[in-house]
Amino acid sequence: MLLTLFLTLTWPPLLLGLCAVLLSLYYLFLQPPTHPRNIPHLPFWVTLLPLFHDVDQQVTFQKYIRAPLEKHGAIKIFFGGQWNVIIQRSTYLTEVFRNERVFQKMGNQKKIPHSVLADFLGDNIISSRGDDWLLYRRLIKPGLSSQFNPIPICENATNLCGIFLQAQGRAGGQGVTVQGILQRYSSANLLQGVLGVPELGAQMMAMEDAVPLYSIQMDLKKYLFHPIFMSFPVLDYWLGSLIPSRVKARQLVQEFSGELQTQVLQGQADSVARSLVQAKRDGLLTAKQFRDNLNVLYVAGQENPQLLLISSLYLLGKYPQVQARLRDEIRKLPIDDLHQGPWDTLPYLTATILECLRLFPPIGQLINRRVSSSVLLGDGHIHLPPGTYVGYNSYGTNRDPAAWGPTADEFLPERWGSSHEEIAHRYQRAKAQAEFISFHGGLRACLGERFALLEMHISLFILVQRLTWVLDPQWPDRMTPAGPLHPRGLRLVFSALEA
Ligand code: HEM
Repeated sequence: MLLTLFLTLTWPPLLLGLCAVLLSLYYLFLQPPTHPRNIPHLPFWVTLLPLFHDVDQQVTFQKYIRAPLEKHGAIKIFFGGQWNVIIQRSTYLTEVFRNERVFQKMGNQKKIPHSVLADFLGDNIISSRGDDWLLYRRLIKPGLSSQFNPIPICENATNLCGIFLQAQGRAGGQGVTVQGILQRYSSANLLQGVLGVPELGAQMMAMEDAVPLYSIQMDLKKYLFHPIFMSFPVLDYWLGSLIPSRVKARQLVQEFSGELQTQVLQGQADSVARSLVQAKRDGLLTAKQFRDNLNVLYVAGQENPQLLLISSLYLLGKYPQVQARLRDEIRKLPIDDLHQGPWDTLPYLTATILECLRLFPPIGQLINRRVSSSVLLGDGHIHLPPGTYVGYNSYGTNRDPAAWGPTADEFLPERWGSSHEEIAHRYQRAKAQAEFISFHGGLRACLGERFALLEMHISLFILVQRLTWVLDPQWPDRMTPAGPLHPRGLRLVFSALEA
């Protein structure tokens, strides 16, 4: 009786209070900003869909994002606890890439400083600007611009064929899940080719052996892109120390960084990582700067090629006619030439790689710039006030029919041309005009492009020469729900080819 009376009296004010709190939260955080005026906003709940449904990012893009992006060239989107502007139109992007002073790099360490992602990658060559960036670039660029030794990648790719076939033997008629194998393969290539740690690279390729760096990274990936913490990173600040999974994530960050540093410090003298080691010894880099740059080199240099490999194997499995045409081209070449890298004599291979990169850019969307002073985009109708966070959506730009025509979504390697010169010209032009932005553009474009393209040429060359594969018919053809966009849990059925 008393309880009923109590509830009758307190319930309406409680409900009203709750509504007021929710409305204030909406008003403070979720209400789209009025500026820029001439572009639409994506309803905030679209970025939260993966929390409630088992979504496919490709479907979400088609359903909610593509049309407004293509119509207006940019949209407002809620991400990272704030509203941002995603720019898709090439003519706008060329201005962003050209104007570093106005569109300043502002990575997670500044934007969402309390997040696990910021803790993991900190202040590094990708997210920094000004003098810090110049220093990091001076240390890292020379190593990434040098000639890479293709032999470790050739050996790893040859082993990879055997690993796939063994896994196929174990799987019987079912498909092989390729993601974990490719994670170890791309780690091995990076450790041997760039970071100067060949023993650890060899361990990565011995698939059955436990490798702490690999297992910690796999664990950490489960936590990094959790949609609720990506959308509301403030939760990491308020509740991070109370939520066991977030505490665990930070612990994994520490373990990963510690393990990577230990390995690199024992590594070889002539590697990209070595210049960072030396700079730390000379006092040019603080311990934190050293750690952050090493982590980001590992993540950029391993994750992106791995994602591209997954998507490329997917596309070649889905389009067997492209795989067969590639095999025809490769078989005409004497195998001894491989170590010299005869890539200019394999135009269809180069065109296939570029087409995979176009359709599935490993970094599908990135928001890491902030407008420093008021600016008008393009024809002047989009006014970006200072403080606006700006990013790009490579997935949308690379598939824009305005640049790529009505076949923009189709897998057509021949669109790049038929001769080496034609493809190189088309590629340079598409990059310069920001129609193809998988490696970004301008001064801050990817420094690992050469290594990544070499790795892709060798990998596909050897795989296509020795194996054939198709999509597992039982595998549901769908993309990841959040985080990097790629085929989810891809399974392939491999067969060996006669030598
Ligand atoms: C398919 C493979 C790769 C793709 C698609 C890719 C893509 C990108 C993109 C889009 C950026 C610009 C990020 C931004 O806008 O802030 C970038 C920057 C960078 N990438 Fe890559 N990347 C790849 C492989 C690699 C590899 C293998 C390495 C090193 C071993 C690497 C090292 C870097 C570095 C150091 C930067 C920073 C450049 C700067 O700001 O000065 N990347 N990459």
